[in-house]
Amino acid sequence: MDQTKVFLSEKDMPRQWYNLAADMPNPPLPPLGPDGKPVSPDMLAPVFPMNLIEQEMCTDRWVDIPEEVLGLLMLWRPSPLYRAHRLEKLLGTPARIYYKNEGVSPPGSHKPNTAIPQAWYNKQFGIERLTTETGAGQWGSALAFACALVDLECKVFMVRISFDQKPFRRLMMETWGATCIPSPSPETKAGRDILEKMPDTPGSLGIAISEAIEAAVTDPTGKTRYSLGSVLNHVLLHQTIIGLEAKKQLDLLSEKQVDVVIGCAGGGSNFSGLAFPFVADKIAGAEIAIIPVEPTSCPTMTRAPYAYDHGDTAGMTPLLPMHSLGHTFVPPPIHAGGLRYHGMAPLLSLAITEKLMEPRAYDQLKCYEAAVTWARTEGFISAPETAHAIAAVIDEANKAKEEGKEKVILFNWSGHGLMDLSGYDAYFQGKLVDYPLPEEELQKSLESIKDLPKPEDVAKSLA
Ligand SMILES: Cc1ncc(COP(=O)(O)O)c(C=O)c1O
Repeated sequence: MDQTKVFLSEKDMPRQWYNLAADMPNPPLPPLGPDGKPVSPDMLAPVFPMNLIEQEMCTDRWVDIPEEVLGLLMLWRPSPLYRAHRLEKLLGTPARIYYKNEGVSPPGSHKPNTAIPQAWYNKQFGIERLTTETGAGQWGSALAFACALVDLECKVFMVRISFDQKPFRRLMMETWGATCIPSPSPETKAGRDILEKMPDTPGSLGIAISEAIEAAVTDPTGKTRYSLGSVLNHVLLHQTIIGLEAKKQLDLLSEKQVDVVIGCAGGGSNFSGLAFPFVADKIAGAEIAIIPVEPTSCPTMTRAPYAYDHGDTAGMTPLLPMHSLGHTFVPPPIHAGGLRYHGMAPLLSLAITEKLMEPRAYDQLKCYEAAVTWARTEGFISAPETAHAIAAVIDEANKAKEEGKEKVILFNWSGHGLMDLSGYDAYFQGKLVDYPLPEEELQKSLESIKDLPKPEDVAKSLA
């Protein structure tokens, strides 16, 4: 009988994270402050603890994972690597499809891979409380879980549309001891301003980030910091444990060459976590198609420019060099709440501009169709975000069949959808529609970045 999954022993878990910044052909551009100059670590100090700021700016190739963090990650890591035998059979493909099952963590996704180290580093720095935003609720529950483990308070601003669609996510956060409120909220100036202009807004990750940062920096005790679940370098760094484990597991199966690496991308963390160790191989000459997948309703990588932009709607964050739809973008209310973000991680955006990746966008109906096929073959019910990766896997497996090639396809099954069944319900009832972003809306949204510094000018000025 063919092997279905590979477990790695705890003693073989990676002891270091991998930092792609060390190997990029062109070095990453710095974040910029309000004066248009690179931000200094001190400027970020009200928002993040210094130990994480150092990691954010670090250019070392390998970063040690603290022993205590490893111990906490071992609650569910190493995550199993599965082979999707039944999907392969259904498709009649010669491809071998492997996936990392990140849905085995207590909150149900890859997000705790960074929530745990972030909470731990904050605790080490003497912080008592973390604030954050959440879209689908996966990140908020991951941080709530991590804060419970290291004994920190946690407050989560949840995008209103998801707050309404996913009441059980709020209950998970509360069970782990966090507070969760819908965003925009009357609790912050950023929230009040938006509510005055758009009382019925479904909210957005950009707005919720503004609220969470404001709540952290205005705490008079100085003991609150903000935590972000994606986009930033240190978040992607923490997620590389996924790809590093996958490499060891593929070795155990004597798979010498991966041909295609796939993941869904909202802010870019789960995809980068799996893909970056393989991007290193690609930079060194390996032939690998590396494919991040996004929704057509929020086409950050496939249609938005590489530009400097704020990470949040109110413009509180430094300017980041990234693919961005513009910080005022309010995405249509598709069910993949975690993919509704206007920007994309700077390091991933840079890899796209360097042609190390081949991003793609899919409509939500195709993704649900893929997720249902997956559930009926592989059994697991996928998060709507993860469904985007599955749709691309099916396309790539069919392509391998047409070409008659025995390819190895690896993807990240970033989370389960057991708290997202309302989306499946809407799909089965025929209530879901596709929302490819209209060009006029894209252009309107890009207005918000037209006067900001341009990456090419900044690169020249720093050369
Ligand atoms: C299951 C799952 N996958 C993917 C994502 C997208 O985030 P990222 O691009 O940072 O991995 C999310 C975000 O909430 C998620 O919950």
